[in-house]
Amino acid sequence: MSKFWRSFSKLAFVFFILSAGSRFLHAAMPRGVDFCVSTSAHQIEGENRFSDWWVFEQKSGVIKNGDRSGKATDHLRLFRDDVALMKSIGVKRYRFSIEWARLEPREGEFDEEAADWYRSLLSELKSAGVEPMVTLHHFTLPQWVREKGGWEWAGAPERFNRYVEKVVREIAPDVRDWNTFNEPMVHLVTGYMAGVVPPQSKDLKQMKVALVGVLKSHALAYETLHRQSRNTSVRVGVAHHLRVFEAERWWNPFDQLTAFFLDKAFNWAFIDAIETGRLAISVPGLMSANEKIENLQGTQDFMGVNYYSRDQVYFTGMKPQMFELHVKRGAPVSDMGWEIYPDGFSQILVEVSKRYPKHSILVTENGIADNQLRDSKRIAFVRDHLSALKIAIDQGAKVETYCYWSLLDNFEWVEGFSPRFGLFHVDYSTFKRTPRESVEWIKALVSESGR
Ligand code: GCO
Repeated sequence: MSKFWRSFSKLAFVFFILSAGSRFLHAAMPRGVDFCVSTSAHQIEGENRFSDWWVFEQKSGVIKNGDRSGKATDHLRLFRDDVALMKSIGVKRYRFSIEWARLEPREGEFDEEAADWYRSLLSELKSAGVEPMVTLHHFTLPQWVREKGGWEWAGAPERFNRYVEKVVREIAPDVRDWNTFNEPMVHLVTGYMAGVVPPQSKDLKQMKVALVGVLKSHALAYETLHRQSRNTSVRVGVAHHLRVFEAERWWNPFDQLTAFFLDKAFNWAFIDAIETGRLAISVPGLMSANEKIENLQGTQDFMGVNYYSRDQVYFTGMKPQMFELHVKRGAPVSDMGWEIYPDGFSQILVEVSKRYPKHSILVTENGIADNQLRDSKRIAFVRDHLSALKIAIDQGAKVETYCYWSLLDNFEWVEGFSPRFGLFHVDYSTFKRTPRESVEWIKALVSESGR
């Protein structure tokens, strides 16, 4: 090899190492996409005593390690510090939820102290220059609603709407972006099929009634938010949980068919209902519905997407379960055992943009449980999902926001406090927040994207 070629290849090698290293340290925020962080009320605020989850958590054996949400992260007291944390990272937006059970602990009685607390949170965000995105229902209900039958209760949509009206008129009149519901399908499937969260049912007929109740509630809230908001650009959507379902045995037609029906029913039926005004589901042997719902058609101004993972679908043929969901053998997983699968993120975003081309996409959640303070898995996860997001944008997906789940470690529902999704570690005995290594990395990412 000539001297020239030897120096050239050395240089090329050094260049390769540097660029690979800097890619690891400074992945780029895709252009036009804002970095945001997400949380939900019950998981961080603490003392959510009037909710159905609080009551549920008192039962034994329902939450891992017997954990209870209790003070959660004590965000009720520490919210100013938490907003300061967001500001320190440079996030542009914050997605959080308002808790119906705190605001209306007893039917018809609104708690003004709770309303004031949310007003203070919003004004703190405003001073910090962080734009709020509000979710109105994130898995919990006031216990009094639950006692009347939850979403199966015919009065639920009207009561939900009264709460929404209170929020938009008196608490958050200037907020632009709203999610009426967080992951309605997860909420219903875990409550009525798996039966592991309130109302702990395994009755699919009840589930269908509840599903219609949620859709009616969404339609009413959509109209109320548009009519009552002071923000002339107000936008209303839903944070949909979308997953990749794949046949475990590619050669098995039953695995293929089950994956097909799961994708249709779990991922798209709810969204299609909102788009068309008709709930149409048909999963042989499990559920079928074909029902027009008044004032539902077209009640979505953007597509909220929560993306985490993929499932391998294995048909068992045995009732009542019929199928099992597995993690791909040998695949990389998070602390919760969920497969880390960034390609699925591109796949889902592209699919959303093909199905609903007129909508912008807001990634309302994407994140990983990684307990380490030196959370290299989390850094790699965000880096790879941002690359996947960029691929989707190049293929036509109109993505404008990426919310990382979550700002803080928090109460992960039936999994209790053990999985840790936070950019900031929370010590649950002192409530001290400690930045994980990913915080510095994200700061650099956000500040570079601002240039
Ligand atoms: C959900 C919720 C969040 C979770 C997060 C991690 O998807 O269940 O929106 O409340 O905490 O997704 O599981």
